Amino acid sequence: MKSAPALCLITALTSLAASSLAQEGPIKYRQGVMNAIGGHAGAIAQISYGGVGHRSHLTAHADAMESLTKMVVTAFEQNAKPTADVPSRAKEEIWKDFSDFKSKTDALVKAAADYAATARAGQTDMLAAKLDPLWDACKGCHKKFRAKEK
Ligand code: HEC
Repeated sequence: MKSAPALCLITALTSLAASSLAQEGPIKYRQGVMNAIGGHAGAIAQISYGGVGHRSHLTAHADAMESLTKMVVTAFEQNAKPTADVPSRAKEEIWKDFSDFKSKTDALVKAAADYAATARAGQTDMLAAKLDPLWDACKGCHKKFRAKEK
C-alpha cells in the first residue's frame, strides 16, 4: 500500500498534468485552427499571385477557409495561459475586449464567405478584388490581438 505522502504527491502531479493539459489543449487547438486557415490562405495566394497553376483547387480552399473562419470565435473563448512548452502569441487584450475580438472574427467570416461564394459562382474576374478585404481582416485582428514573433 502506498503511504499517504506518496499518494498526495501522485495526486498533486496528476492534477498539475491535468491543469497544464487544460491550458495547452485549448492553445494548441486555436493555433491549429489558425494554422489551417493560414494553410488555405497561403495556397490561395500561391494560386492567385504565385503562378503555380491549380486554379481548379481554388474553390475547395475557399470553402475550407470559409468553414474554418466560423470556428475562430469559439476557439478563442477560453483564456488558456501559455506554458513553457506551448507558447502563444495571443494577447491578453483578446479577453479584455472580447466584443472587439468577436467583431474582427465577424469581419473575417464575412470576407471569407464572400470570397468563397464568388469562387463557387465561377466569377473569376471578381476574385482578385475579393482577396484584399480578406487580407485586411487578417491584418486588422493580428495588429491588435497577436503579439510580435519572438
Ligand atoms: C479575430 C482575430 C484574427 C483574425 C481575423 C485572424 N487571425 Fe490569425 N491569429 C490570431 C491570433 C490571436 C493568433 C495567435 C494565436 C496563439 O498563438 O495562441 C493567430 C495566429 C495565426 C497563425 C498561427 C501562426 C502564428 O503566426 O501565430 C496563422 C498562420 C494565422 N493566424 C493566419 C491568419 C490568416 C491567414 C488570417 C486571415 C485569413 C487570420 N489569421 C485572421 C487572430 C486572428
